[in-house]
Order: sequence, then structure tokens, then C-alpha cells
Amino acid sequence: MSARWIPAWTGDEGAARALAAFAARFGTDGVAPTVWSAPGRVNLIGEHTDYNGGLCLPIALPHRTYVALRPAPAGSDVVRLASAQEPGAGLVEMHLADVGPGTVDGWTAYVLGVAWALRQPGALPTGSDASAIGGFDAVVDSCVPYGAGLSSSAALEASVAVALDATAHLGLAGPADDPDDAGRALLAAACVRAENEVAGAPTGGMDQSASLRARAGHALLLDCLDGSVRQVPFDLAADGLALLVIDTRAEHALVDGQYAARRTTCETAAARLGLGTLREIHGTDGLAAALATLAADGAAEADIAVRRVRHVVTEIARVEEFVALLDAGKVHEVGPLMDASHASLRDDYEVSCRELDLAVATARSAGALGARMTGGGFGGSAIALVEADAVEPVAAAIAAAFDSAGLTAPTFLLSPPSAPAG
Ligand code: GLA
Repeated sequence: MSARWIPAWTGDEGAARALAAFAARFGTDGVAPTVWSAPGRVNLIGEHTDYNGGLCLPIALPHRTYVALRPAPAGSDVVRLASAQEPGAGLVEMHLADVGPGTVDGWTAYVLGVAWALRQPGALPTGSDASAIGGFDAVVDSCVPYGAGLSSSAALEASVAVALDATAHLGLAGPADDPDDAGRALLAAACVRAENEVAGAPTGGMDQSASLRARAGHALLLDCLDGSVRQVPFDLAADGLALLVIDTRAEHALVDGQYAARRTTCETAAARLGLGTLREIHGTDGLAAALATLAADGAAEADIAVRRVRHVVTEIARVEEFVALLDAGKVHEVGPLMDASHASLRDDYEVSCRELDLAVATARSAGALGARMTGGGFGGSAIALVEADAVEPVAAAIAAAFDSAGLTAPTFLLSPPSAPAG
């Protein structure tokens, strides 16, 4: 069974596509557009921890979303948008003044939402001029698989954020060879507001930080309690390893109620325990005491709360162990942590599905060092850490297993830790 691969475009290829699509929509007269781009992400470990003030460890994909964008004439707040992925659709045109929660939907919410968020009071550092963010013409194209749990929406938001940062001369992202992390944290915050408030997905912020703040050759240790980051060297090729990403093609959506329900359960449990976030639960004894308190509640939902909290607290500990192994040069030993993360997400957090479980189990039996679902779950993608020469056989084994099970053929990509938005 041969595996189907989804290659990443080169930067030149992505830029050429976005410029060609822009010319097809807007012609070649007037101010020429510039192209910005931003990656999707995979999370190595630390799932459903971000909205609990926890730790996560994403890397940027080589697969990116490209936006060709030019500012509107001075004083205009008209935005005109098109997507190369929807060639038949008309231009979306809107005044920025009319954008806000509930006014836009579909993919344009992620673009317009970022412009809206950057214009909100307090979004920019003192002295920055929010009114410099005016209208624009933009066309997007992307090789980040859509609906695969690889943060195509964060890639779109982040590409627009760096584009507006440049065209409005905000200076937040910093030069490509010396990114400004503090400025990028502000851009990421605007992207999160766009997603939460304008697109209406109650996600936690990991994806936007990964797309804007990751570095090539590194994993991003993100502390969601204070937003601080540490760049953890993660050079897979030097260790003879590869990260195989399996898009199960099982439909994945975060705007439905399941993700929000998990988040609410965690927040309710933290409040019940008198805590700001579940991050404040420390150690085996702390976890046992917290679970005992929740179990004693007697409410119908008590068992669910116990399992959700157990996942979050043990998952945060697994991130710490994973990073300690990377710091000690023991990347070959992280596999069991990935396996344990998957089991916890499947059994306690209940966000896996048949396709993810099959991809993970098959990867392991075909020789992966470790495997787990990545991202929000309920479909989407899994990752497997494999020896470089085992990439093809592991992918082929997964493709064959899906075929035997009568499931839609999965697709595969490779993800060396890649560069952030720029
Ligand atoms: C989605 C969300 C993130 C995070 C993950 C689960 O990707 O967008 O904020 O919560 O799910 O770790």
C-alpha cells in the first residue's frame, strides 16, 4: 500500500502562487502586493493544557499559508479578500469599521478578525498608532492541509498579522533573522482574540504562538500561565530521526461543542478546587487530593471531572519530562511519553477517535519510537517519531491498515521543526 505524501511548497513557490492569484483577482495595475507567510504546527506533547495555564511543546510545520497583500489607499478602511482555494467564489469586501464579533464567518473571519483585534484598545504597545491599520487587498493560498488539526486557521491569522505589522509599520515581528519575541507575543494575542471573539472558536492560544514564536530547529516550550517561551533545540535529522505526521482525514472541527465542553469542565473543576487554573495542582499528592475532592462532589459529572483533571495534570508533567530528556540529549527516549499522552487523551480526556487510535497503534507496531494524536482531537492528525529510514515503511503500514479497515486513505507529511511567520 503506497502512502500519499503532501509536500510543503518552497517559499518561492508559495510566493509565486499567491502573487499569481492576486494578479488574477486584482490585475497588475496599482501598488504591487508583498507576500508574507506563516506555518501550521504540530504539538509534540502537552495537549489540552494551554487553556489550563499549562505547558505545551509545539513545532512549526514546513507547510505554510501565503498572503499577498497591499494596503488600500490612505484613509480607506475597505478590505477586499479572496482565496486561491476558492477560485469560483467572489471577492469578499467589507469596511473594517463593520468588523467585529458576530459580523463575519467562514475563513474571512480569521483575516478580518486579526485586523479588528489589532485595532482594539490596548492591543498595541503605547505609542503605536492603531489607526495605521487600514483597509487592504489580499489573496491567500496555502499548503497547510485544511481541517487536519494542523492549525491552518492559526497559519492564516499569523500570516495576516505579520503582513499588517509590516504594512502599518508597527515593528512588532522584528526582522526575519532576528525575530522580536515580545512583539510576536502581542501579534499572537491579537490572533487569539480574532479566533475566540470573531471566528467564535474557544481555543487556547498554543497554535498562534507556535506559528509566530517557534524557531527552525527548535521546539517551542510555551508556558501558558505567563506566556513565556523557551526555545528547546530539536534537531531531528542530526539524531537520525524524523517526525511523521499522519492526517487521518477524519473530520475535525473545533467550533462544535466538544472542545468547549472540555474547557468548561476544566474551568469548573479549577473553580471548585479554589484554584485559578489546574496548573496550580502539583505533584502526585496534590493530584490525588484534588481528585479526591472532585470525586467527593457526588455530582453526576464528578467522574468526568476527575478524568479530565487527571489528564491535564499528568500531561503537564509529561511535557516537563519530555523537555528534560531533550535537554539531556536523550531524544530517543521520549517515545513512552508520547504513548502515555495518547492513552490519557483517549481514555481520560476522550478526544481521540477510531482513526487516530489506528494510526497510533499501527505506527507503534511498525517500529515508531512513540506516537500520539496531536492537536485538539476528534479527528485530525497523529504524529509518530521514527528512525529516518523507517519513515516509508511506517507510513505504508498505516496506509495498509486504513485500507483494511475500510477507512478513507490517510495522507502523510514530514515535519522538520521549521521557521515562524515572516
Ligand atoms: C487546538 C486548540 C489549541 C489547543 C489544542 C489542544 O489545537 O486550538 O489551543 O487547545 O487544540 O492542545
